[in-house]
Amino acid sequence: MLIGVLGAGTMGAGIAQVAAQNGHQVILVDTNEEQLQKAQKQLSNTMLRLIEKQKVTKEKSSDIQAAITYTTVLSDFAPCGLVIEAIVENLAVKHEVFSHLEKVVSDTCILASNTSSLSIASIGGVLKKANRVIGIHFFNPAPLMPLVEIIPAVQTENEILEQAVSLVKSWGKTVVVCKDTPGFIVNRVARPFYGEALRIYEEGIADFATIDWAMTEIGGFKMGPFTLMDYIGNDVNYAVTASVFEAFYYDPRFKPSFTQKRHKEAGYFGRKTGRGYYDYSEGAILPTPTKDYVLGQQIVDRILAMLINEAYDAVFMQVATAEAVDLAMTKGVNYPKGLIEWSKEIGTKEILNRLETLFSFYGEDRYRPNPLLRNNVFL
Ligand code: NAI
Repeated sequence: MLIGVLGAGTMGAGIAQVAAQNGHQVILVDTNEEQLQKAQKQLSNTMLRLIEKQKVTKEKSSDIQAAITYTTVLSDFAPCGLVIEAIVENLAVKHEVFSHLEKVVSDTCILASNTSSLSIASIGGVLKKANRVIGIHFFNPAPLMPLVEIIPAVQTENEILEQAVSLVKSWGKTVVVCKDTPGFIVNRVARPFYGEALRIYEEGIADFATIDWAMTEIGGFKMGPFTLMDYIGNDVNYAVTASVFEAFYYDPRFKPSFTQKRHKEAGYFGRKTGRGYYDYSEGAILPTPTKDYVLGQQIVDRILAMLINEAYDAVFMQVATAEAVDLAMTKGVNYPKGLIEWSKEIGTKEILNRLETLFSFYGEDRYRPNPLLRNNVFL
């Protein structure tokens, strides 16, 4: 099948590479000629590295590079069986592009979006034949991250879903199917990793370095929340939180934090600006954590209970199965364990107890335990 990818930025270029590596011919379209050249150059550098590491032969590398056609002409998508859109995260722009796209492709072409935060139903809303719209959400970097969330919209025909799932699986990806709800699985369930860490900081319970130390050393996460937010960028991470909060009709569980907002406003985006929660300038000394294991365990217990509560909520609200939620968090954001599995190891009664303690201490809806935990429903 000929694959079209629209947008040659971070995600589009990576998705094009994935499709080409799996034997497809790919048409990569971007309005920006320079971006196309950049994507082509980047792929060539990636291939050189892979040849050096003997992960790919010279021959295969040439085939992959030759499989991608770089173009600024949208109508070059005409013979494609699937087009994956990965342009700017703006509904008005996506609407314009999808209307245009529908005019150039065949009636049987699947139209997918890689959006992280917009609803697939809203994107498909402008299509005349909306039963072929679907979300195919890759993680950054697309060639390396195994997870892909596949999101059927209310308009999506079952056959389109099946085709998309089997195609993306054939690319060696771990596929999870989820409902068209804000943040899908990963960007919803992961919110407390950042939000509860920020809340703990704002209450003066611990500083950034101590929270990061606790979550890595005791919690077993690869990166602490503040290091990770600095890595993702506080501008990007704040925007995702704000959009999920708004999309959930201001559910207090997703409330953004002033601390992150101020960091964003100050231009303290993280690594990319040299300053975030930490200072990345040359010679800067990183703050040392307070290695208090009792405090550290309390921090981990609290953030983990909130993450598990969110995982249960995703299952409770039928966003995805328990298995899919665990796969999503381990394969999409490298959590050391699936959250549902983790809850069973710790004991769901203990998780409920932690949440009820927080709920009664704060009296805030944010800490309400999910009914599945409250009623001891075994997943
Ligand atoms: P990016 O800014 O790196 O790339 C976007 C590209 O789209 C640019 O090259 C731009 O020239 C091109 N473009 C903009 N308008 C266009 C149009 N009308 N026609 C053709 N090309 C156009 O953006 P990025 O980060 O790759 O994100 C793309 C999409 O993927 C967004 O919807 C985003 O939410 C989603 N996404 C991003 C992830 C990330 O970590 N960056 C992860 C998963 C999804």
